[in-house]
Amino acid sequence: MSSSSAPQTSSVARFIGRHLDKQFDWHAFPRSAGYPALQRGQMRYIGAGGSPKVDDPNTLPPEHFTLSMIHLPVDHYGASHYHDDCEEIFLMLDGKVTVGMAWGDEVIETFLGPKDMILLPIGRPHGYRNDTAESVRFSVMVGSKQPNMPIYVAHPSQSEYGATFGAAPGKTLKHSPNSDDPRHREFSSYLCRYSQQPVKLHPAGFASRTYVGEGALKASNFREDLIHLPRGVGVKTYCRPVEDAYLVLEGVVTVGWELDGKVVESRLGPKDVILNPAGQPHYFRNEGLEDAQFMLVAGNDPTEQLRFEAR
Ligand SMILES: [Fe+2]
Repeated sequence: MSSSSAPQTSSVARFIGRHLDKQFDWHAFPRSAGYPALQRGQMRYIGAGGSPKVDDPNTLPPEHFTLSMIHLPVDHYGASHYHDDCEEIFLMLDGKVTVGMAWGDEVIETFLGPKDMILLPIGRPHGYRNDTAESVRFSVMVGSKQPNMPIYVAHPSQSEYGATFGAAPGKTLKHSPNSDDPRHREFSSYLCRYSQQPVKLHPAGFASRTYVGEGALKASNFREDLIHLPRGVGVKTYCRPVEDAYLVLEGVVTVGWELDGKVVESRLGPKDVILNPAGQPHYFRNEGLEDAQFMLVAGNDPTEQLRFEAR
């Protein structure tokens, strides 16, 4: 490698978070200290999310959103809390997690399976729990560079019903998508099931499912599309006035940046993330042996009319 290209490669590498290089932080949430059932690991990729550890030098710089991953052991839970300044999103990666939203002392719960998503709106108390026989992992995105700390409403220090998000026995309702109860209907409006999202075919040769955006969940600061990238397919270099990030779910995705007239590429595997800063010309392609899937998260730009072109 020439000396002139070395700085370029390192500049791209600085915007990649590799799963294999990262570790779960089991002390990310100060309010969990002293409560064994609340212990959970956080792996930070972009910003700090709901943790106060905003000065972690190993995370990428957030603009419109943060991105992290939670590892939740069996029988552990995250106590009911709400956010007063931004939406939050969970994307299920491995296993199956119970999520609940509270309306007063009643809680509606459902399971999220792999690639399912839920949006937690501003002000709505919510919690999560692992009721299964294996640890679960899900990614968390919040729509703010540095969100306010969560406000707990049924922390075990406040409620004897912490594990049921504040609901006393008989006050937990299983989510019923066909119910006329406006709370169930509202809950449905925040759910995105992988199996139920329509698939859009793009002229560039790939497909996508919109999770956050037109005809899907609504968030103030970002949009999300699950990209299905067949082997051999890629897009031409594109540029946005906002940042975008790829979280790889399956396969291998080759990412490229154009820098000073040169191209620098890197390959991402499952649970790797790249953050492409606003204004950075970049592209993606699949030169692997199998199809790939990745979540494309982009800061909101109401004026954007991006059309991907095949390479
Ligand atoms: Fe939350």
